[in-house]
Amino acid sequence: MDAEALKTEAAREALNEVSDGMKLGIGTGSTAEAFVRLLAERVSDGLSVIGVPTSERTAALCKELGVPLSTLEEVPSLDLTIDGADEIDPSLGLIKGGGGALLREKIVAATSDRMIVIADESKMVDTLGHFPLPIEVNRFGLAATRLAIGMAAKSLGLFGPLDVRGGADDPFITDGGHLIIDASFGRIPDSRALARSLQDIPGVVEHGLFLDMADLAVIAGSEGVRRFTPLAV
Ligand code: A5P
Repeated sequence: MDAEALKTEAAREALNEVSDGMKLGIGTGSTAEAFVRLLAERVSDGLSVIGVPTSERTAALCKELGVPLSTLEEVPSLDLTIDGADEIDPSLGLIKGGGGALLREKIVAATSDRMIVIADESKMVDTLGHFPLPIEVNRFGLAATRLAIGMAAKSLGLFGPLDVRGGADDPFITDGGHLIIDASFGRIPDSRALARSLQDIPGVVEHGLFLDMADLAVIAGSEGVRRFTPLAV
């Protein structure tokens, strides 16, 4: 099975967790899109849900496929969020934001009773950090914020390029109007300490470390679809 088919299998399994009347956070990325396509089929068969999308991209797909949408203004607490991830560690710590939607993804996940992460098995890692960590930053003071991120990382023994996504001349702009710095630190042994340090930098809007947020990972691979709950580490 190729990666796209595995994503669909993970999404199909996670769909079993969705029941009538639920208020759903709907993630961003190719795996979340596979979920939206399956969800739309169930909606057209009569399932009643209301979704809060985590990006304009997801909102557009939901509208196209007829998945009813709302906002956190109208529905400020959700039953369940289903989203993909760029990396997943054994405690279900995640790196997210490869698709640039990490801020809305984190806001939506934080307002949900449960978060289920769906992925193919290539996303499972022992330690987070092989995938560059996306850090959403305010455009104001970019150079200063970048410097502060580098200093904070250095104090934790982390080094590596801090690349503005898209490049300085034509940067990627998030749905919130911010920039993304992709931090290639490599292995991050203490993701909690890094998360705390990044939160303390005023120009950092949000970072892509999602710690203690996912309740369940549904992972599709060569051995079928497996479910993982957070392992205490
Ligand atoms: C979007 O900003 C990300 O957090 C995605 O959830 C993540 O990049 C996974 O995307 P894929 O499902 O496309 O791998």
